[in-house]
Amino acid sequence: MDARQMKIKAAEAALEYVENGMRLGIGTGSTAEEFVRLLAEKVASGFKITGVPTSERTARLCLELGVPLKSLDELPELDLTIDGADELDEKLRLIKGGGGALLREKIVASASARMIVIADESKVVDVLGAFKLPIEVNPFGQVATRLAIEKVAARLGLTGDIVVRAAGDGPFMTDGGHLILDASFGRIPDAEALAAELNAIPGVVEHGLFIGMASMAVIAGPQGARKLTAS
Ligand code: A5P
Repeated sequence: MDARQMKIKAAEAALEYVENGMRLGIGTGSTAEEFVRLLAEKVASGFKITGVPTSERTARLCLELGVPLKSLDELPELDLTIDGADELDEKLRLIKGGGGALLREKIVASASARMIVIADESKVVDVLGAFKLPIEVNPFGQVATRLAIEKVAARLGLTGDIVVRAAGDGPFMTDGGHLILDASFGRIPDAEALAAELNAIPGVVEHGLFIGMASMAVIAGPQGARKLTAS
């Protein structure tokens, strides 16, 4: 089974949790896109859901494939969000934001009664942090914000480069008009402490640590999909 087939497997397994009539948060990234394709097939055969996309990119794909959408303001309480992750541990703590959509992803997941993560086995780690932690920051004062992040990281024993994500010749801009700083911490033994410290820095709009948000993950591997619930 190749990487794409595993993403499809995870998406298929998660689709079983989507019920007719649901208000559904729809994630961003290549795994979430496989989910959108499968969801669109169900919708075409008469299944009714209303989706709230977590990015402009996901919104475009949904519109192209005929998945009905509303904005989060029109539908501020959701039944379920299904989204990918860049990393997750056995306690269902996640790193997200590799696709740059972490702010909307976190807002949508927070507005949902449940969040199910779809991923392949390569995303499961013992300790978060091998994937660079995306931190969304306001462009104003970005250098001061980066210094503040470095200071809190150092207090927690975390080192490593923190760089502005690039896109083409310039910086990558999020759907909200912010920058992403990618922090190469390597290992984040106390993700809760780091999340709390980052939340307290004014220039940090949001960070990619999703803690206590996912209730289940569907992990696809060569043998099929397994469920992981928070332990
Ligand atoms: C988007 O900002 C991310 O949070 C994605 O959910 C995450 O990067 C997973 O993407 P893939 O499914 O493409 O690995």
